[in-house]
Amino acid sequence: MITVIANLKGGSGKSTVVFNLAMWLQSKAQPVVAYDLDPQCTLSDVGEVRREEGYTPPLQVYLGEGNLKEQLKYHPGEVLVDVGAANMEGMKAALSVADTVLIPVPPSQPDVWATQKFLKIIEEAIADVKTRPVVSAFVNRADTHRAVRESDETEEALGMLPGIEVLPYRLCQRTIYRRSLSEGLGVFELSARSKASSEFEEFARALYPDYKDGKKRRKSA
Ligand SMILES: Nc1ncnc2c1ncn2[C@@H]1O[C@H](COP(=O)(O)OP(=O)(O)O)[C@@H](O)[C@H]1O
Ligand SMILES: [Mg+2]
Repeated sequence: MITVIANLKGGSGKSTVVFNLAMWLQSKAQPVVAYDLDPQCTLSDVGEVRREEGYTPPLQVYLGEGNLKEQLKYHPGEVLVDVGAANMEGMKAALSVADTVLIPVPPSQPDVWATQKFLKIIEEAIADVKTRPVVSAFVNRADTHRAVRESDETEEALGMLPGIEVLPYRLCQRTIYRRSLSEGLGVFELSARSKASSEFEEFARALYPDYKDGKKRRKSA
């Protein structure tokens, strides 16, 4: 399955989510490759840190040079794509072959507006595809204080946008996500009992319900 984690805005958590999803899928014995289509190359850098530190399994990161669509479709296992506005050509190609598009949205009005614009780009990119991808948005960097209303308001506003499903799972603003990128470890590898680890587990299980038990996906009968 090809999952494209994308958003027009930088800093929304694309690379953080791709890296942690990749680590989670690998922990459930799923083969994963990641494509880093962002010229900032955050994901490639994290993969490199992980390799240098000798953490296993390593993360296989491709840069997607050449015929991107063909490459993405070639892999039998899970494919995660990290892409933003800095590579619109790569983004459109990835969207056109995506099974799922996942949009991390920080809790703010400008981020909702940017998501609205991004949905138009998605529609253009998938105008000719046979099967539409599932397009989901979720709040990343949510405030941990219940009294702060921005995350609720952002979810409500996202819910009014056409063509997307709003996931009932949030990832909060937590230091451990930052450490995850800088140390090359998934949040559950850094601290299995952390709040980030449990919220990420719930989030990832919702996205990949077949893999929650850590067994290889059964071939469909
Ligand atoms: N839920 C979160 N909590 C805390 N920091 C986060 C969270 N998500 C992302 N970050 C941090 O925000 C910065 C930008 O995230 P990143 O994943 O690189 O965004 P993008 O790839 O969309 O530009 C990074 O330093 C990252 O560690
Ligand atoms: Mg990034």
